This record gives sequence, structure tokens and C-alpha cells, in this order.
Amino acid sequence: MKSLQILSLCSLALPTTSLFVLLPLYVYPGPSASAWNNVTTAIAAYPTVQWQIIINPNSGPDTTSYPTDSNFITGISNLNKYPNVITLGYVRTTYAQRPYANVTSDIDVYAYWASYSGANISIGGIFFDEVTGEDNTPASIQTYYENLSAYAYDKVPSTVTPVVFNPGSPGLPALFDSCDTMVEFESPLSSYGGLKTIQALPAGYADQSSLIIYNATAATNVKSLVHTMSVNGVGSTFFDYGVCFYQGQPTGCYNTFSLTNLKLLAAAVQAG
Ligand SMILES: *[C@@H]1O[C@H](CO)[C@@H](O)[C@H](O)[C@H]1NC(C)=O
Ligand SMILES: *[C@@H]1O[C@H](CO)[C@@H](O)[C@H](O)[C@H]1NC(C)=O
Ligand SMILES: *[C@@H]1O[C@H](CO)[C@@H](O)[C@H](O)[C@H]1NC(C)=O
Ligand SMILES: *[C@@H]1O[C@H](CO)[C@@H](O)[C@H](O)[C@H]1NC(C)=O
Ligand SMILES: *[C@@H]1O[C@H](CO)[C@@H](O)[C@H](O)[C@H]1NC(C)=O
Repeated sequence: MKSLQILSLCSLALPTTSLFVLLPLYVYPGPSASAWNNVTTAIAAYPTVQWQIIINPNSGPDTTSYPTDSNFITGISNLNKYPNVITLGYVRTTYAQRPYANVTSDIDVYAYWASYSGANISIGGIFFDEVTGEDNTPASIQTYYENLSAYAYDKVPSTVTPVVFNPGSPGLPALFDSCDTMVEFESPLSSYGGLKTIQALPAGYADQSSLIIYNATAATNVKSLVHTMSVNGVGSTFFDYGVCFYQGQPTGCYNTFSLTNLKLLAAAVQAG
């Protein structure tokens, strides 16, 4: 938990809420990264809100070297201009089935981007997806994730290297010590229990927990839901308005970002 130790030194400088936005930016950046403009506009409009933005060219870095697609270079370097943004490289682990060396090779690629001279495309941390959840997790799987986390902290050349584990459901409690953030909930709004979900988080780990809610609608009271998270010390959140592919719906999660919705979320996080 390298970053938490560093953050605690400057806690006096933090805004009243420590809740931050964990945004899965899985949409293709488009020409000159124009499809990411709503995101950068919202980031600029809410400079006291902290954003961790997950970069995911193709279920991973999609290259063994620098990005070959200049739209990603433009998009990532635009994000890196904001002091309230940390970029995270998306890495999948296939519930610990993916060979260890394949995962570390993805981390190596993201770490390598810091040496690109044409623009600042350095990646600040790592987002591990498809992390094994808490049920029946053997010790070997715990070691797999502990080792990967240590590898990321070591390789990614940023002063603060957030490591995020995403089981999308309650994670292995022992793994909280190997990450900064655990996504404890990634499900439709209809399954979200508000305070009940928050109270079910492992004791003492709310501040490391992230609650990602999709299938929100214009009628969703984001302000109230975020307030409950904030006063109960939840670490991070995101609200998405799409419907996930794996539910057989046509639109998909995290592939369209409306400025209106991003500002609504940022205002709620800022208000705490
Ligand atoms: C690149 O951007 C990151 C994130 O904002 C920042 O921490 C780093 O200092 C920047 N690197 C350079 C060389 O400007
Ligand atoms: C792991 O990487 C090797 C070398 O690139 C590749 O041949 C293999 O298919 C990968 N395995 C998985 C499960 O992704
Ligand atoms: C994890 O790291 C330990 C110590 O370096 C090593 O002995 C072990 O083989 C590693 N396990 C995996 C799954 O990589
Ligand atoms: C998501 O929203 C759509 C449209 O509002 C609805 O038809 C669907 O049942 C919802 N899915 C879940 C899992 O809540
Ligand atoms: C940006 O946000 C506006 C207003 O919310 C929306 O209409 C537009 O489709 C969004 N553009 C992109 C590229 O997501």
C-alpha cells in the first residue's frame, strides 16, 4: 500500500471527502482523442476531485512496446496534464488462470510507456481485473495476487503507484494489504443496497473499497447515494449509464461518457 503511506503525510491538504472517482475509460479515444473530451472537461471543471482513470487499449496494453495508435497517445497525454488524475493500466488476470509471466509482461509494457519521448504517456498505477473473489480462495491464488501487486509497485515508475484489484464482488480480505483499492461491488443499480452494501464491507476497509454501479438512469439520485458513501468513508465510486454486454444487452458498460452525468458525479463527490 505504497500510496496510502504517502497520502497520509499530506492528509491535511486533502479535501473534506477522500472519496475519489474510479473511471473505467474503456471507450476508444477516437480522432485526436475527441471521445475522451467529456472526461477531461469534467476533470478540469472539478479540480479538487481526484480521478483514477483506467486505460484499456484492448483488454490490456495491446502492444509489446509504445502504443501504435496515436489517438491513445493524445488521450493519455491529455489526461496526464491534470494534477488531479492518476492513470491506471488495465491488466486482466482471468481469475488467477492467466500465466503469471503474461500478466507481468503487460505491467512491463505500461511501465515502459514512461520512457516515451514524444509525449507524457506515463501510467501511474495498475488495475487488475478478473480478480478471484473471497470464496474458496486457495493460498496459491492469494500468493499470485500478492506477487503481482509487489511487481507492479516495483516496476511502475511513479511516486504513487495505486494498485487496484477488481473482483467486482467482495474480495479476499487478506488481499487488502496488497492493494490500495478493492472493487467490492461492480453490479447494476438494482442490486445496490446503499448503506446495507457499505455496512457489509470488511471492517476497517471501507476506505480501500470501491463501489461501481452500472445501469444508472437519469432518475438515479447520485448525490444522495454518493453522500452515503462519503460519510461512511468509502474509498471510490463510479456510476455508469450503460447496460453490460454480458447481460445480453445492446449498449454495453463504460463505452459512452456524457458530460452531464460526469459532472453530476463529480459535483456529488465534491460535496461529499
Ligand atoms: C507525466 O504525467 C504524470 C501524471 O500527471 C506526472 O506525474 C509526471 O510527472 C509527468 N512526467 C513528466 C516527465 O512531466
Ligand atoms: C502467454 O503468453 C505467451 C507468449 O506471448 C502466449 O503464447 C500465450 O498464449 C499466453 N497465454 C495466455 C493464457 O494468454
Ligand atoms: C511469489 O513470490 C514468491 C517469493 O518471491 C515465490 O517463491 C513464488 O513462487 C511466487 N509465486 C507465484 C505464483 O508467482
Ligand atoms: C438495466 O436497465 C435496463 C433498461 O433500463 C433494464 O431493461 C434491465 O433490466 C436492467 N438490468 C439490470 C440487471 O438491472
Ligand atoms: C458528451 O456529453 C454530451 C452531453 O452530456 C453528450 O450529448 C455527448 O454524446 C457526449 N459525447 C461523447 C463523445 O461521449
